[in-house]
Amino acid sequence: MENELVLEQINKKFDDGSLILKDINLRLQRGTKLSVLGPSGSGKTTLLRLIAGLETPDSGTIFFDGQPMNDCPPHKRNFGMMFQEFALFPHLNVVDNIAFGLKMKGMDKAKIESRVKEMLLMTGLEGFEKRHIDDLSGGERQRVALARTLAPQPGLLMLDEPLSSLDRVLRKRLLIELTGIISTLNITTIFVTHDHEEAFAAGNMVIIMNQGKIEQKGTPDELIRTPKNQWIKDFLGL
Ligand SMILES: Nc1ncnc2c1ncn2[C@@H]1O[C@H](COP(=O)(O)OP(=O)(O)OP(=O)(O)O)[C@@H](O)[C@H]1O
Ligand SMILES: [Mg+2]
Repeated sequence: MENELVLEQINKKFDDGSLILKDINLRLQRGTKLSVLGPSGSGKTTLLRLIAGLETPDSGTIFFDGQPMNDCPPHKRNFGMMFQEFALFPHLNVVDNIAFGLKMKGMDKAKIESRVKEMLLMTGLEGFEKRHIDDLSGGERQRVALARTLAPQPGLLMLDEPLSSLDRVLRKRLLIELTGIISTLNITTIFVTHDHEEAFAAGNMVIIMNQGKIEQKGTPDELIRTPKNQWIKDFLGL
């Protein structure tokens, strides 16, 4: 299936021999909005880094669009990743931040200009072209980060706790903004969080991770109505 992401029997150990990810199996059809929920240290970031190609699995295979990705370097996977605190370039203005990945790709100037314009429109940032990152609000920064990540038209979007550095009120508002923009895109999105309200609001499918394993997978509704065990119930505060 087009742009399907498949993880088959993924295992990952670190140098000290501890198993960080255990037998991860996952199949995401194009357009799925997956939330990865789990306590600190449960392996969420490691899972994203493996999919991005920043880590290699000890065993198992990651397929995207039918192709095994294990030997494909990160920049050739065409996956977008947005991190906590957005990691924008403070010395560049809004346009140059958004254009960054396109320049790296060697896209010609006219094409970059029109793609950046499209992204400004999508994220409601028209009029902010020349503004510096330091002069933007948290919400505006988030939109720049999203525009920058989406500009190269990634086949997969990954967000690692993109809201965790913000205060509660702002978090709630930005989550609505962020999921609003993402929901208009037919792109598979993986949203990592340790907050179950955030996970349920952002995803139509959720996996709950516990000590490197997928403890349960389901829709938000299924997880709330039929938590598999006491650990899930406690974790979700049910
Ligand atoms: N490079 C590494 N070498 C050794 N251990 C690591 C490495 N990276 C992560 N770990 C360990 O792997 C486990 C999972 O880490 P990971 O960062 O994936 O968790 P997480 O679910 O993202 O946690 P958090 O919510 O705190 O971000 C942790 O116990 C961590 O200490
Ligand atoms: Mg993490």
